[in-house]
Amino acid sequence: MASKRGALVVLEGVDRAGKTTQCKKLVQALLESGRPAEMMRFPDRSTTIGQLISAYLEKKSDLEDHTVHLLFSANRWELVPVMKKKLEQGITLVVDRYAFSGVAFTSAKPGFTLDWCMKPDEGLPKPDLVMFLQLNPAKAALRGQFGTERYETSAFQKAVHEKFEQLMKDSSVNWKVIDASQNIEGVHNDIRTHSLNVVNEAQNTPLGELWR
Ligand code: TMP
Repeated sequence: MASKRGALVVLEGVDRAGKTTQCKKLVQALLESGRPAEMMRFPDRSTTIGQLISAYLEKKSDLEDHTVHLLFSANRWELVPVMKKKLEQGITLVVDRYAFSGVAFTSAKPGFTLDWCMKPDEGLPKPDLVMFLQLNPAKAALRGQFGTERYETSAFQKAVHEKFEQLMKDSSVNWKVIDASQNIEGVHNDIRTHSLNVVNEAQNTPLGELWR
């Protein structure tokens, strides 16, 4: 009998919603419950493509908008063999941002349709669960200033949020909205409950293909 696969769990959300903190806490909780788990994040800035993206985000270089969109997608595709291998080994992957950030951020720029932005990521491993950490802009503002990287302005983040809202209407993806205004433990409890359900279910279902 084939061994049971791990689940692909993604956290998305507006800036300062606490995605990274919650990814780490979820991995720790899964490990403590005896389920193998690892964290990944996109962009993965460690690869050659990731370094081009990182320089762009840090405003050390300029890239044409379509080009950078395709680089973000390529950065996911280059990690697909590693992701599939780990999932097959029974490791649950907790991923900080995925194709949904890719589409939301580029389509918030003028002249880009959601459709065009989704194409390059079509067929990626499909997450078993995508949790959107929802935090209204006023509450996000209380958590401190924006950083200095590209995209870190309130006007752009508002446009990105609207694009996420559109993406969440797609019922082919297992979206769960999490109230990120709760305290860290409250958010974690919600995330852990949803994740344990899909980790158990994913064991017996094949990995899907995103947007296909
Ligand atoms: P982070 O490393 O702090 O999560 O920031 C990455 C930035 O890149 C963030 O502003 C979101 C943006 N982004 C895209 O524009 N496209 C993508 O595909 C991904 C994964 C992130």
